Amino acid sequence: MMAFERRLGATAIRARKGIPFPVITAYDAPFARCVEAAGIDVVLVGDTLGHVALGFTSTVPVDLDDMCRHAGAVVRSTHKAHVIVDLPFGSYEAGDVDAVHSAVRLVKAGAGSVKLEGGVRVASRIAAIVAAGIPVVAHIGVLPQTAALEAGFKRKRDRDLLLADARAVESSGAFAVVLEGIDATVSAEITQQLSIPTIGIGSGPHCDAQVLVLYDALGLYPDPPPFVKRYAELAEVATDALRDYAREVREGTFPPLKP
Ligand code: KIV
Repeated sequence: MMAFERRLGATAIRARKGIPFPVITAYDAPFARCVEAAGIDVVLVGDTLGHVALGFTSTVPVDLDDMCRHAGAVVRSTHKAHVIVDLPFGSYEAGDVDAVHSAVRLVKAGAGSVKLEGGVRVASRIAAIVAAGIPVVAHIGVLPQTAALEAGFKRKRDRDLLLADARAVESSGAFAVVLEGIDATVSAEITQQLSIPTIGIGSGPHCDAQVLVLYDALGLYPDPPPFVKRYAELAEVATDALRDYAREVREGTFPPLKP
């Protein structure tokens, strides 16, 4: 008989409303293993992949093949975690049918749920994906995929618009919503009004959960946003280690003459 993986599901995450929990991004096998070993059971394969790992200046160039490849690496390297995978820019804009096809590809790559950016504007996309049986995380506030085309990365403070977006994604069937770059008072009100968990990033302390971009939190990305707490300086640790390796090769002490 086939053994089924028992991963944390969307329904269990939805039931965490009011209970703080950490979410972190991951893009590859070594860090996915670290995330799970640290006891973090909700992982986002975000399209921040584009700038933190692939060297682009935004998330826009990231495509569905990139997301499937990196989602697979994270899923194969974790056992219990729920893996949310971003629908990248261009994979859901054209219509609800496109959105469902793209979400299905991510699920085939191992996603436990998919995330897409937008509120009222993408409500029908969310409903279509949920109707196909795929759990959805919404993302409102600052929307990095279209920020350059719209108002940029400015903090979002328009209470009425944000509340309308939050209500639209909840009633379309999202089981959680990322609040990015939203004024803390407004994100507190959204959190209080919704029955699904809010996952904050740069949106103050009153969200149900918090998410950080892994490479920002570990000091691997040189230019993180100001709200980020750097829990380690891994770029320095790695550079020091590589300097030691290079010195030992140059001076002939690695490899040793007698092992
Ligand atoms: O792509 C990503 O990493 C995200 C986070 C910023 C929430 O969407």
